[in-house]
Amino acid sequence: MTGDHYFTAEPATAAQPREVEFDVAGRDYTLASAAGVFSADRLDPGTAVLLRKAELPAGDATGPLLDVGCGFGPITCVLATCAPSATVWAVDVNERARDLTAANAARVGAADRVRVVAPDDVPADVQFAQIWSNPPIRIGKAELRELLLRWLPRLAPDGVAWLVVARHLGGDSLHRWLVEQGWQVERHASQKGYRVLRVTR
Ligand SMILES: C[S@@+](CC[C@H](N)C(=O)[O-])C[C@H]1O[C@@H](n2cnc3c(N)ncnc32)[C@H](O)[C@@H]1O
Repeated sequence: MTGDHYFTAEPATAAQPREVEFDVAGRDYTLASAAGVFSADRLDPGTAVLLRKAELPAGDATGPLLDVGCGFGPITCVLATCAPSATVWAVDVNERARDLTAANAARVGAADRVRVVAPDDVPADVQFAQIWSNPPIRIGKAELRELLLRWLPRLAPDGVAWLVVARHLGGDSLHRWLVEQGWQVERHASQKGYRVLRVTR
């Protein structure tokens, strides 16, 4: 990958298209992926823990739901599939990731309900029933905290956020910091070194 990070806005690396297969909640997914995006060759193990341990939206959920840092869109596609009436917003700074998520939303038949946009393009008045994220730890601690302080306040009053963070990448200190910021945080699950945090007001 040249000098690209997975959070590069416009990856210079050739896309080298590929597919990623996984299953969640008894459903099989085959999604488009490409070089230059996070975990391009497989469902990230942290994302897998999140999608298997957190409480997926109910079938009658209408959302809106938000996937912060959608990558090629695995979380977005699972949310849109589990909640076939919900609007799902997917944001990422990486343009290639956004293109892949849009293509994958179409693959799962949810193109009309999935809004894939750059972070600044989410309308200010949308409040989210649920926020989901495998957040970009590698952008740095201060930037990560800024990202969370940007999106968590967009939760509806009774909304819930689900985050997954590796313990060795600071999952427990992030938990403590969120509590210090006034959020209710529960370690909902812990598996394979990943913490699944449930965050509410
Ligand atoms: C750990 S990856 C998770 C990707 C995907 N959700 C998954 O589970 O495979 C985090 C994502 O956040 C994106 N990202 C980095 N900085 C961001 C920011 N400021 N706002 C939104 N997304 C960002 C990265 O480009 C990357 O795709």
